[in-house]
Amino acid sequence: MSVTDNITLNIFKLLGYIWQQRPAERQAVLSEGGNFPTDGYIAQGFCRVSGAEHSFLPEDGDLAAHLDGVAVVVLSQVNYRTGKLRDIAATTKLINDHGAEVIWDLAHSAGALPIDLNGAGARYAVGCTYKYLNGGPGAPAFLYVHKDVQDGGWQPLSGWHGHASPFAFDADYAPAGDISRFRTGTHSALAYTALEASLSLWAEVDMQALRDKSLAMSELFRECLADSLEAHGIKDILNP
Ligand SMILES: Cc1ncc(COP(=O)(O)O)c(C=O)c1O
Repeated sequence: MSVTDNITLNIFKLLGYIWQQRPAERQAVLSEGGNFPTDGYIAQGFCRVSGAEHSFLPEDGDLAAHLDGVAVVVLSQVNYRTGKLRDIAATTKLINDHGAEVIWDLAHSAGALPIDLNGAGARYAVGCTYKYLNGGPGAPAFLYVHKDVQDGGWQPLSGWHGHASPFAFDADYAPAGDISRFRTGTHSALAYTALEASLSLWAEVDMQALRDKSLAMSELFRECLADSLEAHGIKDILNP
C-alpha cells in the first residue's frame, strides 16, 4: 500500500501498469456506468493515449457478458449514489477467470467497513483518505498492489519518488523494487501530517464493531421510516 497522489492519478498509473502486461489480444478497458465520473473520465483519457478501446458496463449490467477482449476493469466496491456493495472476492475471481484484471475503487468503503484485499484475492485497488478516514481536504489517496505483482514493469507516471535511487539523480529511470515505484513526485507534507493524526485514532477502531454499529443504525432508520410511511398507507417500499 502506498499513500500517494489522488485517486484519479492512481487509476491512471494502475491502468498503464496493467496495460503493459496484458495479453496482446486484450485491447479494451471497461469502466462502470453510474460510477463516480472521474473513474470513467480517466479511463477514457488513458484510452486516448494508449489506443485502448473504452466501454462502460451498464448499471446492473451482466459483468461476465462484457469481458470479451477486456484487459482491465475499473469498479467501485461501494457505489457513491446507490450504496450498492460489491463482493470483492467473487467479482475479482470472475474477472480474473475471464483473463482480465480489476482495479477496485474503495473511496466509499475505506473507513466504512472492514476490507481484506489480500484475503479477497484483489491485486489492485485505490481509495481516498479524505472521506471516512477523515484526512481532511486535500488528503492524499492510496494505491494498493498485491506483493506478488509489484514487479511487473513501469507505471506510466515515472517520477523521481518512484525511482529505485531517487537521490542518485541518474538520468535514466529505474523503478523502485517495491510499491514505491507507484509514487510520482513531491507531496504535501502538511496533508500527510493531518492524515497521520487521523490515522492514529483509526488505529484504535475495531472495524467490525464499526460495521455492526453502522448496520444496526441503518436498520433502526429503516424501521422508523417504515413506521412513519405506514402511517400514510405506504408499505413495503424499503425492502430491497
Ligand atoms: C468513487 C470515487 N472515485 C474517485 C473520486 C475522485 O478522487 P480524486 O479527487 O482523489 O481523484 C471520488 C471523489 O469523491 C470518488 O468518490
